[in-house]
Amino acid sequence: MADVDTRPAIHAPNIRPIISENLRTASTRPRIAFDPEKHLVYREDPPVLTLRDIGVSENVGISPVAISDPFPLFSEEAITHMRNEIFTNEVWDNCLYSTDFAGCQLRGHCPKYAPFMYDAWKNPKTLAIVSKIAGVDLVPVIDIEIGNINISVQDPLKNYQKQEKQSDDDVPVTKWHVDSYPFVCVVMMSDASQMVGGETAIQTGSGDLIKVRGPQMGSGVVLQGRHITHQALAAVGGTERITMVTAFRPRDPLIPDSSVLTTIRPITNLSDLYFQWTEYRVEVLQERLRLMLEFLREQHHAHKPTDATKIKEFLQQQADWLSITNKEIVHN
Ligand SMILES: [Fe+2]
Repeated sequence: MADVDTRPAIHAPNIRPIISENLRTASTRPRIAFDPEKHLVYREDPPVLTLRDIGVSENVGISPVAISDPFPLFSEEAITHMRNEIFTNEVWDNCLYSTDFAGCQLRGHCPKYAPFMYDAWKNPKTLAIVSKIAGVDLVPVIDIEIGNINISVQDPLKNYQKQEKQSDDDVPVTKWHVDSYPFVCVVMMSDASQMVGGETAIQTGSGDLIKVRGPQMGSGVVLQGRHITHQALAAVGGTERITMVTAFRPRDPLIPDSSVLTTIRPITNLSDLYFQWTEYRVEVLQERLRLMLEFLREQHHAHKPTDATKIKEFLQQQADWLSITNKEIVHN
């Protein structure tokens, strides 16, 4: 989800055989309900690095938080249910994307093919945890951005060779980038206990590099990815590395939201994307206009003078909002 590769995604038939023996048909499984009491294992607030800590101006973000340490979020049982939902023929037939940026991604499976995963991320208790750590009340941007899956499967021989020469590790698996959406929560879905590396590297205001360790299975990391330049570093050890990424925006419509679709269009069904994008952008605008009108009427009925400067500023902000909303829909 970076502002880099805009080439169209291609399907990746060469990836599938490695995983395909485990694929099943979704309908053979009973539907399991997400239960926050059982499936959330969050205990306490993890340490965070703030924008100030990394020398980035606090004005650029929507909260003081840059990135969190890994924290336990979903139970092993929850991760098992989620893995069962994505390792199905339906998901691999319909939701697989491959680009230079990410060789194997599953996108757009929520809620249709992964109702448990969808419910997990939409649950108010999950959102409360992510929001508390992020320092701002968040909701998933749109359904398409819930539970995106990044998969890398490692060649054991290559692994061995890499571990042999550990000194030149820090192999980036993504370029330096910023995300298209304000916040992300990245959750590990593989057994990472034997993995070395897999950190998120972030750039400080002075150009230095800070590495934040990667999460263990079921744990997550919260990152203000729209405003922090970052890259994922390669992990060695373990045969597969599967991460689940959900993107967030502020719940409060009055908080600035700098979302764009730059890196999203090439890896998304455009009909679904433009529906969900337009729906969310218009809903936010409707709410802003409703609140503004309510305020204006109150002022007027209280015989207060009309603040034309404020009105013009507000209207300009909404004109910009609509302009970006329109610009991000690229009509071929
Ligand atoms: Fe990113």
